[in-house]
Amino acid sequence: MSSLDRFAQDKIDGLKRRHLHRQLTETLREDGIWVERGGRRLMSFSCNDYLNLSQHPAIKQAAMNAVEKYGAGSGASRLVTGNHPLYAELEARLAAIKQTEAAVVFGSGYLANAGIIPVLVGAKDLVLADELAHACLFAGAQLSRGKVLTFRHNDLDHLRLLMAEHRAFYEHVLIVTDGVFSMDGDLAPLAQLNDVANEFDAWLMSDDAHGLGVVGGGRGSTFVGNSHTPVPLQMGTLSKAVGAYGGYLCASAPVIDLIRNRARTLIYSTGLPPSCVAATIAALDLIEREPGYAALPVQKAQAFTRRARLPDAQSPIVPVIIGAEEATLAASQMLADEGYLAAAIRPPTVPAGTARLRLTFTAQHPDDAIDRLADIVRERVLN
Ligand SMILES: Cc1ncc(COP(=O)(O)O)c(C=O)c1O
Repeated sequence: MSSLDRFAQDKIDGLKRRHLHRQLTETLREDGIWVERGGRRLMSFSCNDYLNLSQHPAIKQAAMNAVEKYGAGSGASRLVTGNHPLYAELEARLAAIKQTEAAVVFGSGYLANAGIIPVLVGAKDLVLADELAHACLFAGAQLSRGKVLTFRHNDLDHLRLLMAEHRAFYEHVLIVTDGVFSMDGDLAPLAQLNDVANEFDAWLMSDDAHGLGVVGGGRGSTFVGNSHTPVPLQMGTLSKAVGAYGGYLCASAPVIDLIRNRARTLIYSTGLPPSCVAATIAALDLIEREPGYAALPVQKAQAFTRRARLPDAQSPIVPVIIGAEEATLAASQMLADEGYLAAAIRPPTVPAGTARLRLTFTAQHPDDAIDRLADIVRERVLN
């Protein structure tokens, strides 16, 4: 065996010993909620397609029309010739939804975070990240060459303490957080985080990957409650409730201009296929037109948490924390035997000792299936 293969095999063996080895499982998504895996038909509670829009006829048709009109791919970076005519419409729509001056669309949410943070943060600067923020916010922070510190999850006192200790030693400070936490489903206290940022002359960036389309009347986490929190850097993805693909940043006109000029993941990566951009525009149309539909995933999640006797859901994401990896895999398998797909999420995606089933609820999940799932989880997982 070559040293390269030996290296890889040793790493894999270690992952297997710790029940952390992962495999790609072929999954055929039939419609909004049903999937086929290994010859079995399962009802999925593990997709981020919260509004089932990836399968919506009008949205698929918009994507097909764009393929006919503009082709399958964009052909180059947006800064060369890949900036097809649909981009301007989408960016104007996103800025209007988020009430910012401008927006810029990236190839994905991960690319957005990996590109935005290094433009704003350099070696003399500090990033303060919520400890449960998404991996790609940390990836962007690490690429920035700034100092990175974490504050305890949603803990404003800890954030203030770190600010008081460190603010004076850095030129700029960027606070980063998920708006809706991807593995826990809870919300960040964005209004209070914005106050702390303003008090210490820091900048707040929120990642609304799991908020757009499903909380705040469909406009996302900066619109939860009766007021709007003017977070200056509102990032998100088009791959979850929107049902397509791509990432974005909504911010002021100068910030967006700077990002377009300096973000390496925008400049040195090919533009999105026109079909993705067209599907997104059609999905945003639907989300804006039907706020009642956009509210359904959270309502379904809340029906589940009430019946399973779990804390009230704040988003379509409900964690069922089990702890040990092996037990979590066994619970996922038991639910598959009952006809449900509920993926086991293990470290390093979540902190050690908090392996879980991460359940996601969508607009089209039938109420009786949710009730039955809640009963099984209460009696056979949480007991
Ligand atoms: C909070 C959060 N941010 C960013 C991303 C990355 O987005 P994308 O899938 O568009 O790369 C995800 C998706 O996994 C996420 O959950």
